Order: sequence, then C-alpha cells, then structure tokens
Amino acid sequence: MNLEKLLADRLAPAFAAVTAAGGEAGPGEPVDPAVRRSQHADFQSDAALSLARRLRRAPRDVAVEVVRRADLSDLCASVEVSGPGFVNLTVADGALGSLLSGMAADDRLGVPASTTPQTVVVDYSGPNVAKEMHVGHLRSTVIGDAAVRLSQWLGHTVLRANHLGDWGTPFGMLIEHLLDLGESTAAHELSVGDLDSFYRAARVKFDADDAFRERARRRVVALQGGDELTSRLWRLLVAESERYFLSVYGRLDVTLTAADFQGESRYNDRLAPVVAELDRAGLLRDSGDAACVFPAGFTGRDGEPLPVIVRKRDGGYGYGTTDLAAIRHRIVDLGATRLLYVVGTPQRQHFEMVFAVAREAGWLRPPVTAEHVGFGSVLGPDGRMLRSRAGGTVKLVDLLDEAVQRAAELARRKNPDLDEAAVAEVARAVGIGAVKYADLSTDRIKDYVFDWQRMLSLDGNTAPYLQYAHARIRSIFRRAGTGVPAGVPVVVGEPAERALALELLGFEPVVTEVGQSLEFHRLAGYLHTVAATFSGFYERCPVLRADGPVRDSRLVLCDLTARVLRQGLYLLGIGTPDRM
Ligand code: ARG
Repeated sequence: MNLEKLLADRLAPAFAAVTAAGGEAGPGEPVDPAVRRSQHADFQSDAALSLARRLRRAPRDVAVEVVRRADLSDLCASVEVSGPGFVNLTVADGALGSLLSGMAADDRLGVPASTTPQTVVVDYSGPNVAKEMHVGHLRSTVIGDAAVRLSQWLGHTVLRANHLGDWGTPFGMLIEHLLDLGESTAAHELSVGDLDSFYRAARVKFDADDAFRERARRRVVALQGGDELTSRLWRLLVAESERYFLSVYGRLDVTLTAADFQGESRYNDRLAPVVAELDRAGLLRDSGDAACVFPAGFTGRDGEPLPVIVRKRDGGYGYGTTDLAAIRHRIVDLGATRLLYVVGTPQRQHFEMVFAVAREAGWLRPPVTAEHVGFGSVLGPDGRMLRSRAGGTVKLVDLLDEAVQRAAELARRKNPDLDEAAVAEVARAVGIGAVKYADLSTDRIKDYVFDWQRMLSLDGNTAPYLQYAHARIRSIFRRAGTGVPAGVPVVVGEPAERALALELLGFEPVVTEVGQSLEFHRLAGYLHTVAATFSGFYERCPVLRADGPVRDSRLVLCDLTARVLRQGLYLLGIGTPDRM
C-alpha cells in the first residue's frame, strides 16, 4: 500500500509517452517520476525538470503534457503544474479512505512480504568471554536485533550469528587465573557478572609476573592442542559467560538465544582449510612475519599495500582468519545472500578487507552482498566516551538497572493509580525502550550523547512519548466500551484527518526503505511524526462524541494509528504496554 508508488506508476507511462514523442532526443533511460511528499500539495513530482533538459524543451510544457497524458482521475482531486514545472498532486479524500480501509483490513498493515526472500545472516552483539558487556556492545545488540526483526517481518530467512570472542591468546591467562582462584570461586565470580574484575586480575598477574606469563603461554598451547583439562576449564569460562550474556539479552528483550552463539572457536577446524584454499587461489603472500592476503585497493598511510594476516609465523591464526572462515561458511554452507555485520566504525576497514578477500576468493559474488552496518560511539554528557562515575567503562547491566528504576519513578508520577505489578511492567518496557530508542533514533553512523533526561522525556522523539501515544489510544477503546468497528468505510474529510491518513499510508514506504538502508532513525522519526499527527487529529476531531459513521471511521483511524505504532516499535525491539 504505497501511495507514492501508486502515483508514480500512473505518472510513469505519461512520462514515457512524452519521452517517446520527443523524437531523437527521446528514447533512453525511462524516467523515474520521483514522487515525494510535499509542503505545497500532498505529493510532488519534479521529474519534468530533468526530462525537459534532456528533450531541450521548456520544463513547464513538459509538465503540462505529462499531466494531460496521466490517468489519475480516480486517485487525485487535483493535479497542477506549479513553478518552473513541478507536478503537484492532491489525493482525493475518497481514495485516501479506501486505501486506509484496505490497510486496516490487512494484518500486515499494507506492507507486503518480500517476493524475493533472502537468507540474511546478521552478525551482532559479539561480546567477549570473561569480559564485561559495555555500551559498545549495547549498540551492536540493539541495532542488530532491529535488523533481525525487520528482515524477518519482511519475509526473509534470518540467521543470527553472535560472533563471541571465545578464543585466542587471552584464554591462557584466563584459565591460569581460574586455576589460581579454584573452580568454584571462579565460577561464582563469573556467574554474578563480575567479569571485569576477573579479567583485570588475570591481566595484572600476566603483566607483573614472569612465571604466570610463562604458564599462560603454555596454557594457550595446551588449549590449541585440545588438552582435556584445559578444554574443560575453557568450556567452563565460556559457559559462565554465555549464561551471563543470555541474562543481559533477556533483560534487553532481544531475540538472541543460546543457539545463536557462533563464537570464534566454532571456526577452528575451518581455519587451515580456508588458508589452503586462499593459497590455491594464489592469494597468499609471505610477508616475512606471516602469511597474508593483500586485497587490491587497500593501502596504508605510507602508500604500502595493507595485509589481512591469515597465519602468523608461529602457525597461529587471528581475528581476520576467523572472519574469513566465517564469511565463507555463511555464504557457501549456509547459503546466505545478504550478510550484515553490525560492528562499530573502528572495524570498518577490517570488514571492507575481509569482503575484498572473500570476493577475490570467489565466495562473495552477486547476488550475495556483504555490508558493514557500522555505528558511532556512545558519549557522556561531557561529549567524551561514556564513563562511569568512577571513571571506568559503563557496565551495560548497571545502565539497564538505572533505566528501569528511573522509568518506575516516571510511571508512578504519571499514573498514581497503577499498582506495583503494573508499575514494574511499565517500567521495564519504558526504561529498556527508552535506552533502545535513544540509540535507534539517531543516525547510527554518528556518535550520540547518552542523556537520561532526554531519553525519558514524555515529549519529543522518545520511546515514552510513543508508548504513551499508543496507550492513550488503547484507553480510548476502553472508554468506548467497544472493539474496533469492522468493515466500516473510512471517511476522510477534516484536514487533521487527511494529515493523519497521509502519515499512516507512509508506513509501507518507510519500512521498505529501512529494510534496505537499515537506517532505523528513519523509522523512528516516522513513528514520531505519526504520533504527533495523531495528537493533532485527536485535538481537533472528536472521536467518542462523534456520531455513527464518523465515530466508527475515526475509531478505525485510532486503531490503525495504534497498530502502526505498535508494529513499528516492535520492529525496533520496543514494547508497547496497553496501559501506562
Ligand atoms: N568480539 C568483537 C569485539 O568485541 C566483535 C565481533 C564482531 N563480529 C565479527 N564477525 N568480527 O570487538
């Protein structure tokens, strides 16, 4: 149900006819009517301007001819040429009403499932074993989960890949530290989520104590060699951390499960074969220290080609090799056609290089695509990296605790009638929702400032504002004492009704667009506009006090607004309590 597209489909043949009539200069690229929402009418097309240049004709004449040829009588109340050659389109009230009726009758709110479903792998979250999850992992987890929800809803097969840092040299020192503490003490420390102090204590010994460092080194060798005791202790570390991460995912209400842990260690057996394959493809170079691939087009500051290190001199493999094995596995074994890597911008070049190597190796080729879905940092109020009061990195769980606690205060203040169970439920949805929404509503490539006041504000582009808008509509239905009238025609007459109608019909275009761009702030901004437009409608157009058909029609508009908000927020991973 894409009104823009509907109008464009009607204009396109008219543009084509004008182009064809243009003689020699005519044929060529078909013209995209470029229909957009507009201040001057409901929609506007400016395509006549560029076509006129191509045809060497006066733009207004081209626009007039397009309008004459276009068949828009059933959709538009008026079609006018304005300015130098814009086509202004005003949609007929009747057309808006019937489109909205169709949208209301559709479970999918007018958003069709993809006719070309893909297999999408979303690599996200990726915390490191025996290390605390910090706000950087929050961003990956929240953005990645929105990508999962949206891709799934659009009908794609989605595979979640939680590329856990569960392998590599740090495990030598971590296992030795575990042995020093004793298994049960270590397990306790890890299970209560004191991961940072565990890691730090191991690190301190590693840096200060030669004997410990030597033990750690030997332990890495034992781990790689599959030594039984070492493997068991390693599994214990991984299992405790996974349990902890799952508890964080539960609190965050993200869709990641135990089955989605696809840690680095899973690729161990594939590393040597992958390197051999790269060698057979003639891509391996010996750089003295290591075997490397130098993908074309990557150079350092000094102009020298940049390597992806695939095998170190000691025979060890690193982060890059693991990502090469992972990308090959995802494409060749899992049949993925779209690969998403939701990882902060500092790793942009790493992924660009991994993709380049995968292309040169012949794994990554059309129609398969790989995208680094990058994001900026979370900043504190001082504009620097977010720090705890003590100056350390902020633990994600502490942040979530504080969010829920602040939201509970807000809920009690706003609605003193809520009982404590309801407060707890609302606080969870609002607190966690506010944190997620603050992240998703800003352009992900940019840094954003973590600001409690703003994210929990009841007005502005915030989760609580949208959640209240939704709950308010649900309360209209509680007061109405009736359900949503079924099968009644939607009648759009008042300007505030028209404005709301046009916004609601914008759902499909924005969802489809964000499914490609993964720019969730566009969906967030859209939902905010819907809620704001609804509030204008609700001020000006009585609903429960209106009569018969008008009341029914407005109730359908109310319900449709609530459903759009609910579904939109769901796609962002944010809950919508019925009562707040
Ligand atoms: N564990 C990594 C980190 O904390 C993130 C993993 C990202 N995914 C990947 N396939 N490399 O930085």
